[in-house]
Amino acid sequence: MGKDVIIACDFDGKEQVLSFLDKFTGKKPYVKIGMELFYAEGPEIVREIKKRGHKIFLDLKLCDIPNTVKKSMKVLSNLDVDMTNLHASGTIEMMKAAIEGLTREDGTRPLLIAVTQLTSTSEERMKNDILIDKPLKEVVAHYAKNAKVAGLDGVVCSPLEASDVKAVCGNEFLTVTPGVRFADGEKGDQVRVTTPEDANKIGSDYIVVGRPITQAEDPVAAYERCIREFCGE
Ligand code: C5P
Repeated sequence: MGKDVIIACDFDGKEQVLSFLDKFTGKKPYVKIGMELFYAEGPEIVREIKKRGHKIFLDLKLCDIPNTVKKSMKVLSNLDVDMTNLHASGTIEMMKAAIEGLTREDGTRPLLIAVTQLTSTSEERMKNDILIDKPLKEVVAHYAKNAKVAGLDGVVCSPLEASDVKAVCGNEFLTVTPGVRFADGEKGDQVRVTTPEDANKIGSDYIVVGRPITQAEDPVAAYERCIREFCGE
């Protein structure tokens, strides 16, 4: 299974993201399109970036009744994205419906991964706001197991949770991990961070890296450094 670096293209609009991608003349990086860019520019931005030869992780974190998620996933599958996601809290039934919607007539489909608990949710908030009394680690592992039972390919999690997820769901179950920073870089608003090298050692399959690349003086050099440190290339 090939490891890869996914660039979180958290830009406000089409012009900014395309001029950023224009800097990459050699390898076409894997790109994450999130809610901000998708809501601002619509499906056209996905088609445009895909046309330029990039793989796309469409990070829309769906969570709704199974029928609605199934029909929405069918739309995303027709957009020809490579990876998309949903909230595991929507239940196993919802995740199974998502897989059905995502699967094309020829049997192929984009990778589908689940958000377990958002990294912005602390154990205290989980207990007080959503009345989940169990330890956060246990909840993450349980949601990952549900995603596996539903037939999903993996989860989005903190690199620090990646080895727990692998222990519960097996080594083939993908871990896609944000919260990555260079050893000599700024943390920004991320709290629990790891370096690309450590993320690799812990067991991440894909790292999602935003500002350390998008805000770098030389984004191409920063991307190449990530690839070197994470994939050992
Ligand atoms: O700029 P930075 O490297 O912090 O960007 C990380 C990306 O990963 C952002 O798009 C952020 O929304 C996303 N993300 C995250 N933590 C999560 C889930 C997604 O940082 N738990």
